[in-house]
This record gives sequence, C-alpha cells and structure tokens, in this order.
Amino acid sequence: MMTNTSLLDQFPLLKEKVRGHRLAYLDNAATTQKPLPVLEEMDRIYRTLNANVHRGVHTLSQQATDAFEEARAKVARFIKASEPAEVIFTKGCTESINLVAQSWGLANLKPGDEILLSHGEHHANIVPWQLAAERCGAVVRPIPIFESGELDLKALSEMVSSKTKVVGIKHVCNALGTINPIAEVVRLAHSVGAICIVDGAQGLAHEPVDVQAWGVDFYAMSAHKTYGPMGVGALYGKRSLLESMPPFMGGGDMIRTVSFDGTTFNEIPNKFEPGTPNVPGVVGFGAALDWLAAFGLPQATAIENDLADRAAAELSSLPGVVLRGTASQKVGIVSFTLDSVHPHDIGTILDSEGVAVRTGHHCCMPLMRRLNVPATVRASFALYNQPEDVEALIKGVQKVQKIFA
Ligand code: ALA
Repeated sequence: MMTNTSLLDQFPLLKEKVRGHRLAYLDNAATTQKPLPVLEEMDRIYRTLNANVHRGVHTLSQQATDAFEEARAKVARFIKASEPAEVIFTKGCTESINLVAQSWGLANLKPGDEILLSHGEHHANIVPWQLAAERCGAVVRPIPIFESGELDLKALSEMVSSKTKVVGIKHVCNALGTINPIAEVVRLAHSVGAICIVDGAQGLAHEPVDVQAWGVDFYAMSAHKTYGPMGVGALYGKRSLLESMPPFMGGGDMIRTVSFDGTTFNEIPNKFEPGTPNVPGVVGFGAALDWLAAFGLPQATAIENDLADRAAAELSSLPGVVLRGTASQKVGIVSFTLDSVHPHDIGTILDSEGVAVRTGHHCCMPLMRRLNVPATVRASFALYNQPEDVEALIKGVQKVQKIFA
C-alpha cells in the first residue's frame, strides 16, 4: 500500500492553499480529485494516439479504439459484469439514468404502471422517471425511508404489486452516506416482474459492486466521483434488456445501415453510443478504476470510515450540532445541521478556513423535506483525506459557533 506522503504526491491539487490555509477537501461526494496516473493517461491519449474510434483502418484509429475498448473491459471487470458489451459509455450517471427512462421507460410503461423510487433519491433518479411517467401515464411513488436514512424494506415489500414496473434506488446516498440493501431491493422488484435500476454514482468508489450477484438490471456510474474525469460515465445493463430497447439517441456509429427508407441499428453497446465519444475521458475512467483497485477498495473504505467516524463523534459533542443520517451501514459521509445557523453560512465560514464542504439540499429536495431541514452541511471523505482535515472541520465549526453565539 502507498504511504500517505506518496499518496498525496499523486494529488498536487491537495497541496494548494485556499484562502491562505492548508486545503481540507471534504467535498468528495460532489467530485473527487484526480490522481496523476489518471491525468497522465488522459494527456497521453491526446499526445500520442488522438484519433477517432470505431471508424478508421489506420493505425492511430485502431490504437485509440483498442484503448477505448480496454476501458470498457475494465469497467465491466470492476462491477463484475458478465461481458464488456453490457457497459455503455455515457457522459455521466445522469445521462445513464435518462437513457433507461427514455429508452426502456417509453417502450414499456403504460397508463397506471408504477415506478417506485426511494424517498432519498437524487434528482437524477427522480426527474427522468417523472418525465417518462408523464409521457406514458405511469405514476411515480416514493418508497418511505426512516429518519436514519435507511430504506423501509417492509414498506417496499407492501408497495410492490403487479402494477410495479420499475424500482429505483441509490447504491449509496450522496447526501447522508447510507448504503442501501441492493440485493434485497432487486429481489423485491423481481418478485413482481419489475426492473431494478441502481444509481451507483456514490457507490462505485466506496463499496464493492457485483451486478451479477445482485441480479440488478441497470447500474448507472459516474467517473468523476471515482477519481476519474468529469463528463464521463457508464451504464451497465443486462444484455437481454439492452438488446430489447430502442436507441436513446441517433447518430453515427450506432447504426448498421441508413437509408431514407429506414435505418437498422448496431449491436450493443454501439447502439447506445452515437457520435464521437470522449475517448480520453473513457480511458481516464478505466485508469481511475485500475488505480483504485491497486490502492484497494477495503483500504480506501477503512480510511474514509475512520475519519468520518472521528468527525461524527467530535461534531456530535459540539452544542447544537445534529447529525443527519445515522444508518448503521454508511460510507464516509457526515451530514449535519447546527441550531439556528443556515448551512450556507457554515459553508462560507468553513471555506474561509480552507475547508471545502457542500451545503444545501445535495440534489435531494424530497429527502431534505423528509428530514424536515432545508439543507445540511456535508463533509464527505475520500481515501486521501487526513486526520488534519477532521481537525480543520471541527475548528471551523467551533469558529461558526463563536461567530453566531
Ligand atoms: N451529486 C453530487 C453531490 O452529491 C454533485 O454533491
């Protein structure tokens, strides 16, 4: 395993000063920093093998295609998909979910059908389904969650019925850190013949994924929360489902033949990848997964959970601090509020001390309403965080308390 120093050497940005202070970057659920091997790999693509993929017989194009397809195989291995063709590259987790809602949803949903989504879902796994439901006359219903952030599995088991066509759940809650019981949710969805789509944006970098063991139908991913670049993501889908679905967008590379009389479509995964893809981004995504696998997911989780536990313990000893999201199974995310101080004020004061956190609804407005808060402060940990980051967070919150005393 890398030492802490050699690890930090791989993240030059973390050595930058912010407002004259050492940076305590605790906004990893919004995006993680990128290690040098990922940046160098993306640079290498543009410097040494920039060419379009799947389109050329010339050497550079073939090399670019090989690098691109190698990244697909890396994603497939990381999530334990049975074959790379079940991995579609997209511009992010949001696009991946929209792909399923528009393609599978519009082709399969009918009036009266139900789409069950956990009350804690990110807007990216709610709004695409509302758009599809409106077009099809289907209904979106929230699956209750407890105050702790945990899913009410009993309620879900009572909600599923022959009307249920889709069950949507986050692998890990970006706002609170809750790890959801994916295998159980998939089992309940399948018990009534519904599909289960998992928003994996916050899960991929922190929890093992095994799409086959879970039996999940779709798993949506984002590279930028997994030490990879922004603007790239992927969708895992079972071959049988992907093959049965119409294309999501039309363009080059997703076709087999085009004429003004009609068009036939390519095989998966190409059917869902029209246009020139973000080749350096996709290769960077593959490099990020390699890098994370070499570091070790269990080691990463141990570091993050230890720091988050320390932060939670120290924060809860401060007067007026309320921890939000206290599930027993969590990743390294600590969400909290402080009596009579708006989270945005807390975030601004923390920033003046070099501490980067996210404040707000975290793109989970229904969840905030469920918790009866307008917003929270969220400190989210990554494998490069240090005990000093926790100290800076606590000192910052104490400063907020002094200012608002
Ligand atoms: N969804 C991201 C977050 O949780 C941006 O901050």
